[in-house]
Amino acid sequence: MLAQLLHRNGIDSVIVENRSREYVIDRVRAGVLEQGTVDLLIAMGVGAGVQQSGLRHDGLYLSFQGQRHHINLTSLTGGRVITVYGQNEVVRDLIDARVATSRPLYFECEQVSVHDVEASPTIRFRHGGDDHEIACDFIAGCDGFHGICRPAIPESELTIYERTYPFAWLGILAEAAPSSTELVYTRHDRGFALFSMRSPRITRLYLQVPPDDSIDHWSDDAIWDEMLTRMRTDDGWQPAIGRIIQKSITPMRSFVAAPMQYRQLFLAGDAAHIVPPTGAKGLNLAASDVLVLARSLKSYYETGSRDHLDRYSDVCLRRVWKAQRFSWWMTSLLHRFPDELPFDHQRQLADLDYVTSSCAAMTSLAEQYVGLPQEVSHESVGL
Ligand code: PHB
Repeated sequence: MLAQLLHRNGIDSVIVENRSREYVIDRVRAGVLEQGTVDLLIAMGVGAGVQQSGLRHDGLYLSFQGQRHHINLTSLTGGRVITVYGQNEVVRDLIDARVATSRPLYFECEQVSVHDVEASPTIRFRHGGDDHEIACDFIAGCDGFHGICRPAIPESELTIYERTYPFAWLGILAEAAPSSTELVYTRHDRGFALFSMRSPRITRLYLQVPPDDSIDHWSDDAIWDEMLTRMRTDDGWQPAIGRIIQKSITPMRSFVAAPMQYRQLFLAGDAAHIVPPTGAKGLNLAASDVLVLARSLKSYYETGSRDHLDRYSDVCLRRVWKAQRFSWWMTSLLHRFPDELPFDHQRQLADLDYVTSSCAAMTSLAEQYVGLPQEVSHESVGL
């Protein structure tokens, strides 16, 4: 996304990816796009896929004590919506757009390393049996939580804020027509469960499991038993069952590295911050980061001034921390904590009762879920 935004502004870049093209296109990731992310894709000219196959949602359900409660996101936010469209589909659309520009995009790079990020950065890697070295003005570390860019910043320059959760999510894709048109977030005495989807024929479901659980412990039958037990509501609603085509376990973490920049190196997305998936914010935060970074780089090349670049981290972190707070809150609202006191249990139920009955509380959830306003406008990158 960053490369495409830069390209549209006449700024060249080289993309260095260590995975294969098939891996990044096939790997199932998140799936909820904020209105602002969809608007950005469309404005960039990369919106055909999401416009054609994205599933537009006006609301969501919060489910507890056997009842589903509807929250109408659209009416509470003056007409905004969320769109369910797989992150890997977004990546595929962006790869197609990049390939169409004929600018460099290297997959399956090995031994990637970054050097001299203080003043005149270089990136070294092996590709197709050859050694490459790229000299550049800036490096954008869009390389995820386990990437090499954050560790290239001296430890003394970064403050790490971190919180782990005493649970993980077991996620499956099933060949089953979604039995609800909207997402259902369930709080159950046995733990959290989430009903989502990818297409009119594919359901995506999640279960809270212990943090050290292994997917090998879960037969398909056991997964369905647990899904139905947690999600079935008193009116008889439950997910439709189908063949499980993918299953995995993901740990949950809140993480921020600040500042998100060091001299000529800028971190974006999961390289700088991780949110637990309950608020569906991870991909959307990454998109906001790169919009701010593209605006800052454009301004630098147009004016020679570093003003916008120097403010990159501060501008991004305001949004990041609000998304951190929201994701932590949604997580606390809906999960069972192993050390939960009876007091916490009652407080959690009261929180759910409040958010599903107070218009003010629902509006607060809705405006955060559809996405707070972007820090910088699309016009600032010429869109
Ligand atoms: C998903 O569909 O993968 C999904 C939806 C909502 C979330 C997290 C993941 O909060």
